[in-house]
Amino acid sequence: MNLREEPTPGERPRRDAHVRSLRPDDVALIQMIKDICLREDFSSHYTAQHIAVLAGANSERAFERALARGDQFLVAEMQGMVAGYASWAEGEILSTFVVPPAQGQGIGSLLVDACTLDARTAGRPILRVRATLNAVDFYRSFGFLPTEPGFHEIGGTRIPYQLMVR
Ligand SMILES: CC(C)(COP(=O)(O)OP(=O)(O)OC[C@H]1O[C@@H](n2cnc3c(N)ncnc32)[C@H](O)[C@@H]1OP(=O)(O)O)[C@@H](O)C(=O)NCCC(=O)NCCS
Repeated sequence: MNLREEPTPGERPRRDAHVRSLRPDDVALIQMIKDICLREDFSSHYTAQHIAVLAGANSERAFERALARGDQFLVAEMQGMVAGYASWAEGEILSTFVVPPAQGQGIGSLLVDACTLDARTAGRPILRVRATLNAVDFYRSFGFLPTEPGFHEIGGTRIPYQLMVR
């Protein structure tokens, strides 16, 4: 989304931020953003072991596999710098990560709104998210409601999430 003319409901239009498609040279940077977020934002709801497992799974190969699967990635730039990214596939938001210094300024919302718009345009409206426990209230603001809890199993470790639907 390049500062699309008509902001969707909930979007905070920003003059200095825009969302664009992922480029191959973004991968190392968004991997770094995810790593920083895991270490700075997840400790309120996840153990050190959970975070270590998630960080271990955050590799360039994992992004390449996701791209090969067809996951759609969008990148947010603020003041010319990559500030976050989000991904979606098959009616689901798969991730939203905003680098901590840029959080709380509407970038996460811009990304979720852009995924929502792209998915709707592709005929696969976003109806669910497996929210990390620290982000349940964030996703609530887009109309997702918690249904049942679940977990991802990575290398024998269960990482809990909250399934949310709308
Ligand atoms: C969750 C995250 C993506 C939000 O991005 P952001 O740019 O800070 O979000 P915004 O500034 O657009 O905030 C949108 C709204 O959600 C709220 N919000 C943001 N992060 C929140 C959080 N972690 N918990 C509760 N509410 C949150 C904001 O207060 C704001 O509410 P408002 O509309 O009443 O002002 C960001 O905090 C992040 O990257 N966290 C770490 C990674 C993560 O947990 N991602 C989600 C799972 S993949």
